[in-house]
Amino acid sequence: MRVALLANLKKNAPIIPGMSPDMWDDLDSEKTLDAIMAAIAARGHDVFFLEGNLTLYDRLRETKPDICFNICEGHFGDSRESHVPAILEMMRIPYTGSRVLTLALTLDKPMTKRVLAYHGLPTPPFQTFERTNEPLDPDIRFPVFLKPSREGTGMGVSAESVAHDEAQMRRQLRRLFDRYDQPVLVERFIEGREVTVGMVGNLTSPVAWRLPENEDAPRISRGLHFFPPLEVDMSQYPPEEMGIYTSKIKVDLAEDFHYLCPAPLSPEMVEELNWLTAATFRVTGCLDVARVDFRLDKHDNDKPYILEINPLPGLNPGYSDLCIEAQAGGWSYEELVNRILDEAIERQGLA
Ligand SMILES: Nc1ncnc2c1ncn2[C@@H]1O[C@H](COP(=O)(O)OP(=O)(O)O)[C@@H](O)[C@H]1O
Ligand SMILES: [Mg+2]
Repeated sequence: MRVALLANLKKNAPIIPGMSPDMWDDLDSEKTLDAIMAAIAARGHDVFFLEGNLTLYDRLRETKPDICFNICEGHFGDSRESHVPAILEMMRIPYTGSRVLTLALTLDKPMTKRVLAYHGLPTPPFQTFERTNEPLDPDIRFPVFLKPSREGTGMGVSAESVAHDEAQMRRQLRRLFDRYDQPVLVERFIEGREVTVGMVGNLTSPVAWRLPENEDAPRISRGLHFFPPLEVDMSQYPPEEMGIYTSKIKVDLAEDFHYLCPAPLSPEMVEELNWLTAATFRVTGCLDVARVDFRLDKHDNDKPYILEINPLPGLNPGYSDLCIEAQAGGWSYEELVNRILDEAIERQGLA
């Protein structure tokens, strides 16, 4: 097949006067793109790269790919990850991964949490702020964790994200509003282990059609393949990071990543995390691949809380969580990339 890899390269990103220095931290490197293209080419496909910017529409018309391998994070706007898929749908070109609505939803952490809460899935209690002086919801208990609503890759996440009282919270709100022009998510701070679960596949109906309504109902997630969970080994990082998976760890120290994979968890806990991953995948409407980030509350028997779902998980072969997890599960990078592609091919009847 003719496969176009659609991505936003960090080095091609627009330069905007006064932009925050971490503005493009979630965009991709040439190394990642080369690795994905090599993996796809190894299966005999004809693969080429197109930058997901304003030139894309014309380039797609010229090159006419059979399918696009989409990892575009987008550049602008509060639904930026959904822009390229929207163009592809208008042009009726098939692509890998989640679609427009899901990518817009999951980029917005509070919106995603509303959906999770509606379905009774465990996510930390929260409040969003649009102004520094908004009244605090009486249900909110300190300490709290503050982060921008629509960023990723640890952007806006540092040791200062934890606030132990209202004064600290208001100070951090001010900092985040100054830096990121968007609402701030304030959540209960979950102290405990940091675990992430990656998966590929698609739920097969009818078993996955509904979430079980009670605890005894079978927790079926047919069609999904879960990789071993990865735990970030916080003990290996400077104490200033305060046990948080900060922007510094994700970006500056990315090449020197300390993790445990498979994470040392009981089989029952792995089963529970896989189930929660499947349920989050299901209720947010993800396709083909995703990674769900959790914290295990050490003050409540390691109860897992869902922080977010990433429908476009990083694919850097050297250090991205999903790639490490796949490897721990006995999959090569080539197998991982092509499974995502094959899921999309099969789902859309292109084989
Ligand atoms: N409610 C919370 N309690 C404790 N730590 C949190 C909480 N929310 C986020 N964190 C920390 O911040 C990191 C980044 O948060 P996350 O929501 O996964 O955003 P992203 O990965 O998109 O930057 C998490 O991996 C975790 O270390
Ligand atoms: Mg995360």
